[in-house]
Amino acid sequence: MDPDDSHPDTPSPAPRRPDRGGSTAAAPGTGSGRGRAEPPREPHRPGRLRQAIEAAGARGRRLRAALAGGPPPGPARPEFWRSPIRGPWLTSVLGAGLLVGIPVMFVTGLLSYAAYNPDLAAVNDQTPDKGWLGFYLFSWPTDPSWLYRLTQGVHVTLGVVLVPVLLAKLWSVIPRLFSWPPVRSAAHALDRLSLLLLVGGALFEFVTGLLNIQLHYIFPGSFYTLHFYGAWVFIGAFVVHTAFRIPVMVRALRSRRLRTEMRTSTGATLPEPPDDTGLVSPRPAPATISRRGALGTVGLGSLVLFAVTAGQSIGGSLRRTALLAPHGQEPGGGPDGFQINKTAASVGIRAADIGPQWRLVVRGPGHESVLTRDQVLALPQHEAALPIACVEGWSTADQHWSGVRLRDLAAMAGFPGRAPEVFVESVERGGSFGSTVLRANQVQDPRSLLALRVNGADLSPDHGYPARIIVPANPGVHNTKWVTRLTFGAAS
Ligand code: HEM
Repeated sequence: MDPDDSHPDTPSPAPRRPDRGGSTAAAPGTGSGRGRAEPPREPHRPGRLRQAIEAAGARGRRLRAALAGGPPPGPARPEFWRSPIRGPWLTSVLGAGLLVGIPVMFVTGLLSYAAYNPDLAAVNDQTPDKGWLGFYLFSWPTDPSWLYRLTQGVHVTLGVVLVPVLLAKLWSVIPRLFSWPPVRSAAHALDRLSLLLLVGGALFEFVTGLLNIQLHYIFPGSFYTLHFYGAWVFIGAFVVHTAFRIPVMVRALRSRRLRTEMRTSTGATLPEPPDDTGLVSPRPAPATISRRGALGTVGLGSLVLFAVTAGQSIGGSLRRTALLAPHGQEPGGGPDGFQINKTAASVGIRAADIGPQWRLVVRGPGHESVLTRDQVLALPQHEAALPIACVEGWSTADQHWSGVRLRDLAAMAGFPGRAPEVFVESVERGGSFGSTVLRANQVQDPRSLLALRVNGADLSPDHGYPARIIVPANPGVHNTKWVTRLTFGAAS
């Protein structure tokens, strides 16, 4: 019977279903000879699950074949990486720099968070869900008055300075990121995962930090939360990485003398002996730069970044060198001639908010005073020389503030003895720092003022006229400007 001669009434012979053996056999129930044609049966379809398993099996087989077939052309092949200077020694020298710098970054970052006194009141805490990650928090001190200026200046300046070291370290280990096969065993998979968290965490922390200090708030969410949790993920991976790599690093650093390398020219530069780190190229190209040149370039990069950044924290004549400072080098002369973070206009302050009808409300349990600016000026005035230290790392030199001591206002609110914490509110609208809670030790400090004047003149509107908070060692954002209400003894 010619298969393609099909008449409608002549049933096409039932398709013969190949059995697993591949040979053809009669399907059950067909050709029974009983004359009544059976309707053709649907060919047997294996269950969806079995289909999925079979497909997965096929994919697994293809993957194993690909893996067994060796690395695909490109970065997965060791010979793709030709630099003769790459190797465990160079990587370890760069690693040593990060081994010193990253813990300092982490600790100064944690101190930045602690300086907010986040455990005192919800309004102070940008990362309220931190749970046990806040185990280390303590009452932020007021002495020395330059403390936050130092810790945050170091955090930001060191962060910027470490960028060339971090990039060079990533360059030096990049072949490892492509090593083949991607996963060899469960332990290897864990190692790869920790490397991913390490490299991803480092890039995340540095990128969010740099964007923040350049005022590019393009983060998918709050900088604080992202940077805070990112720091813990990064430092966790960093600790694991360091613990496993220290022996390799020590061995590598001992394998060559730094002094010899510093004397080796490009022409005399030779690859490190092949090893199992996968960093040394099996097919090195002739050297175009020596290890001395490479480290010199990284060092120079860090030095230049230091030179154009540190001035914003150190201040004085060096301020002019801070080319990367987002708030400018020269804030102008006169009593108000120092940096400003947020201007009055940028936080929606209107002339009426800070005009003659402005009032200061001082409250305590069962007590409330409403004062005009002149009445506040009539209270005993005190002076303090204190800097403004911004969370972005820049800071001013000591400015000469005068105003009413917070502890004297606490006494007015019914706390003649030991001053309690105070909830500070501003007329500011919308900004994330329109209110804050200051801890009792901050209120009690005789240098902590509700300042009305600075450097011998009334505050300017951008510096917080009619009145602002100034507390020693306090993050700039917590020295609230345009203050209108002080509630003592009530943490919000
Ligand atoms: C170029 C690198 C970096 C820059 C510019 C930078 C910048 C900053 C800034 C501006 C803040 C203060 C945020 C604020 O209170 O408004 C901060 C906080 C912090 N940084 Fe960094 N950072 C960098 C890298 C790192 C790294 C590598 C780590 C961890 C190892 C880290 C850990 C932290 C922590 C824990 C905080 C406290 C977060 C908070 O207040 O919620 N930072 N950083």
